[in-house]
Amino acid sequence: MKLTLRFLLPVLAALALLAYALVPFVENLMEVWSVRDLNIRSILIGKTVGPDLQRLLITPDDVAKNRKKLQATLEKATEDERLLALQVCDSKDRVLVKTDNFPAGFNCATMEKEPAYHGKLFKLPGGSIHFSYALIEWPEPEATEQGEQAPSSGLQDEVEPLPTPSPRPMPPEILAQTVGFYPLKLMIVQDMSYVDRRSRETTLYMAAVFLSIGILVAILVLAIVRWSLSNWIQSVRNLVTGIRNPQKAKLAVQNNQEFLPILKDVQALVKEMEVSRQQQDETRMTWNATTLREILKKHLSGERVIVVSNREPYIHNRKGDVIKVQKPASGLVTALEPILRACSGTWVAHGSGNADREVVDGHDRVRVPPEKPSYSIRRIWLTQEEEQGYYFGFANEGLWPLCHIAHTRPLFRSEDWHCYMRANQKFAQAVCEEATDLSPVILVQDYHLALAPLLIRSQLPQATILSFWHIPWPNAESFGICPWKNEILSGLLGSSILGFHTQFHCNNFMECVDRYLEARIDRETNTIIYKGKATQIRAYPISIEWPPKALETTPTREECRLHLQQKHGIHPKSKIGVGIDRLDYTKGIVERLRSVEKLLQKDPAAIGNFVFVQISAPSRSSIPSYREFAAEVDKVVAQINADYSQDDWQPIVYLPVHHEAEEVYQYLRAADICLVTSLHDGMNLVAKEFVASRDDEQGVLILSTFAGASRELTGALIVNPYDIDQTAQALSFGMRMSPEEQRERMQLMRAFIREFNVYRWAGRMLMDASRIRLLEKLQHVRLGSHNGDNDDDSYNFGILPSGGPIRL
Ligand code: G6P
Repeated sequence: MKLTLRFLLPVLAALALLAYALVPFVENLMEVWSVRDLNIRSILIGKTVGPDLQRLLITPDDVAKNRKKLQATLEKATEDERLLALQVCDSKDRVLVKTDNFPAGFNCATMEKEPAYHGKLFKLPGGSIHFSYALIEWPEPEATEQGEQAPSSGLQDEVEPLPTPSPRPMPPEILAQTVGFYPLKLMIVQDMSYVDRRSRETTLYMAAVFLSIGILVAILVLAIVRWSLSNWIQSVRNLVTGIRNPQKAKLAVQNNQEFLPILKDVQALVKEMEVSRQQQDETRMTWNATTLREILKKHLSGERVIVVSNREPYIHNRKGDVIKVQKPASGLVTALEPILRACSGTWVAHGSGNADREVVDGHDRVRVPPEKPSYSIRRIWLTQEEEQGYYFGFANEGLWPLCHIAHTRPLFRSEDWHCYMRANQKFAQAVCEEATDLSPVILVQDYHLALAPLLIRSQLPQATILSFWHIPWPNAESFGICPWKNEILSGLLGSSILGFHTQFHCNNFMECVDRYLEARIDRETNTIIYKGKATQIRAYPISIEWPPKALETTPTREECRLHLQQKHGIHPKSKIGVGIDRLDYTKGIVERLRSVEKLLQKDPAAIGNFVFVQISAPSRSSIPSYREFAAEVDKVVAQINADYSQDDWQPIVYLPVHHEAEEVYQYLRAADICLVTSLHDGMNLVAKEFVASRDDEQGVLILSTFAGASRELTGALIVNPYDIDQTAQALSFGMRMSPEEQRERMQLMRAFIREFNVYRWAGRMLMDASRIRLLEKLQHVRLGSHNGDNDDDSYNFGILPSGGPIRL
């Protein structure tokens, strides 16, 4: 409508202007034509009235004699509607006879003096008149052989003069009387008001015609413009959508050859816009379960994800007649479970519970979460020997200490390695069985499955494989002691994207590849091209869901605190510190306990006024180093409690049992201080859970500088856990920190986790995956038009970031 008006109005305005300019011209033309008509008519009037006048006016005496007849002749002639008045004069301009209404101011003398008046138009107040005259000659005209005689006209300038007959010889006596009498002049006044009328009508008519033409032309042009525009838009649309559908783009260009030069430009522009839009989106989006589902739907065509990890999110254990569901203490599970709940799909994992087999269906699947099933766990069964070699042996006695700088010596046994390879094959096989199409999105998790990406890739070359390494990656020198380092590296390079928590770990990984494999490393784009296949190495700091689901059922801070005080006999005025970990030597539990001891030594105010609760979930307890570590912790706790307990107060409450997430949150909410003192940690999600639990914006976090979380939680008191004094000082400082300072620090950290939650972590990876898929599609368009053999290895899989070495 807007377009129509924008087009129509100027056209109409232009036509109106044209009409306005033409009106005077047309009026003038009408006038000229009318005057010409009336001049001709004057001649006819002269011809009609002339013979009667000649008959009635031979000599001057006839004027009086024939006045009545003359008068009657003139009156009769003026009966004609347009003939207003007549007057007859002799040759000396004396008026002989005239009609009554002959206008004053006009006479024969004037006419003689002002020859310009002859046959002219006069605009008078009562309406326009036409004034002219005809000469009437003596003798009385008669028909001759030359034709009928006619009076001569005074309109010589205007019309062709009529032929004048040669006069008959006149008797001399009569001739004497006519001297100065003939030729007579017949003055003719004609009504011209009809010309005014006509010119008004013509103006109106012209306006109507111009308006109609204007509207018609505008509509026609508009229709043509719209039609061509829609054709053009459709072609551009085909070009643009051709980014995803090369067939369409080809068709668009075939139908509109003029688009050929801009095809590539449009495609490049759309690609660039799409990538930048996706990048922008990440920072602008509100990250939650819905956002994640949207990304899957929008960017990955609604594909379900397949997650594969060693640890399962729900473990079924039988205790007597009852099967209990346990959620394991695992950062990986904490992070991934909300993602699967949000996106549905399948989680492939080791069935480690003693009742796991009892609850699965014929395809080894079970729907979870038990209270509201939304996705499936596909369980993998391992023999005891496999579990021993793969999980306890190679993964947890080899790779775990290798990757953590905790000074526990890694153990590498070839039997374990073989089990590791076999187990990885089992996991990879199950993943491929779960895939419902040829290019699924697969999330491979952690150090248990380093070989799986390549194994999956060999069966599903078009899969988008996102691997995430949840623990630190060592430097090349440390990693070099692994006898199967090359296999581990090349196994991981089967991934499309390989993620770590920090850029530092990404750099370590690339360093290892550089040192041990023959691969091309593009450091500008953090891409490794190995055997023609590109893998992007990216930092994706992991996080937790916000707000955590377990908090929904957690009591208020006061209730949690009261519950804790009653349960462990803690004085209401006592400050409470908590530490919550798996019983693992990397967590710095002993160092933490020693710091508490140091606090008691150095700060007498803490005695009787500070209780430290350590929850340690038993972990990997069949591994000797873990058993030894558990024993050491027991010993240290016992020693400190023995040294410092007074009356009914003891400084350390030690709980070496598994706690479900809801219970863990109760401790975190009740505490004044939370201690996370890992000797080395990829991220550490307990630190983030503590912050998430504190909607009262109170509480102090003491955090190891060797945990990935210390890069993000800048409101924490950052410590070196090996420095016992420093951690003790932080404890002392934390106990005295004002509520205002606690609030400010807590607000800072809560804002960060709210923004960088686990949905964003997964969303970023999925968006990167979608970019890769887009680039692959574009590359296939290119490859489709590529003749002959490809001499560049990078074409084989073509998973490269924009700006990378890919040739589109
Ligand atoms: C770490 C690992 C996880 C693992 C978790 C618990 O966080 O990165 O992969 O699940 O420890 O260990 P567990 O051996 O009990 O699974």
